[in-house]
Amino acid sequence: MQDNNRKVIVLTGASKGIGKAIAEKEGQRHHLSLFSRSESEMKSILQSQDPALKSIYTVGDIKKEEDIRLCVEKTLQTFGRIDVLINNAGIGIFKRVDQFTYEEFDEIQKVNVYGSFLFTKYSLPNMIENKSGYIINISSVAGLNGFKTGTAYSASKFALNGFTESLREDVKQYGIGVCSICPGGVKTEFGGKGLEKFQGNDFLLEPEDVARTVSYLIDESETSNTKLIELKPRRRKEYRGK
Ligand SMILES: NC(=O)c1ccc[n+]([C@@H]2O[C@H](COP(=O)([O-])OP(=O)(O)OC[C@H]3O[C@@H](n4cnc5c(N)ncnc54)[C@H](OP(=O)(O)O)[C@@H]3O)[C@@H](O)[C@H]2O)c1
Repeated sequence: MQDNNRKVIVLTGASKGIGKAIAEKEGQRHHLSLFSRSESEMKSILQSQDPALKSIYTVGDIKKEEDIRLCVEKTLQTFGRIDVLINNAGIGIFKRVDQFTYEEFDEIQKVNVYGSFLFTKYSLPNMIENKSGYIINISSVAGLNGFKTGTAYSASKFALNGFTESLREDVKQYGIGVCSICPGGVKTEFGGKGLEKFQGNDFLLEPEDVARTVSYLIDESETSNTKLIELKPRRRKEYRGK
């Protein structure tokens, strides 16, 4: 691939799960700027990348505006542009609403909503200047439907979907695309034990399924904008016919 066909992708939540799958896939063809709190995981993802690519990482907490600002600044200093922003970092705590502390409820909104807001805020001026770009928000089916124990998480993902819908209207005039992906259950360590009870083995998406959907959006025509993708699992091969 010629260097001028390579894009610069900022990816949050890059250390594990869905983010790791996206980094491993896109790291074969595009420059990456990874963000998470886990240095060793991001380092090892980048070690398996094509050495022709100049990817970087930033260790930071998405709840801290300064960490986000520095990540975007470092990306622009290194590559001079941002073509794609993937807001993927996310957390979930699952229990009945009266069992939540204010701090727990607040932390979910800070990571899932404010983190995406701030990464968008700092990346957007460069995309507007370039009159191109793509912002992909990893939301959830919990951003389309409520479910038992899901108040705090659904509140954050409904908010992220609302943010996405309005953002698209703000930036389409600059040729910037905005889409949210709403996956069902994905086979990752997300949510810890609280989520295990929702996850049978046969109807879970693989992190790579979400990564393939991200690739589709990155390659989308510059004159169209997929609005929202709801990604459902289907029965795994080994269970079919049972
Ligand atoms: N798994 C599912 O069933 C599922 C379904 C639908 C949607 N999703 C969404 O998909 C996204 C990725 O989830 P996943 O399943 O891949 O979860 P995961 O395996 O738990 O990974 C979460 C990622 O977010 C990062 N992160 C969390 N808190 C952070 C913080 N304070 N600062 C910086 N980074 C932080 C983590 O990095 P560090 O901990 O290394 O900092 C990690 O890279 C989330 O937005 C989630 O809501 C997941």
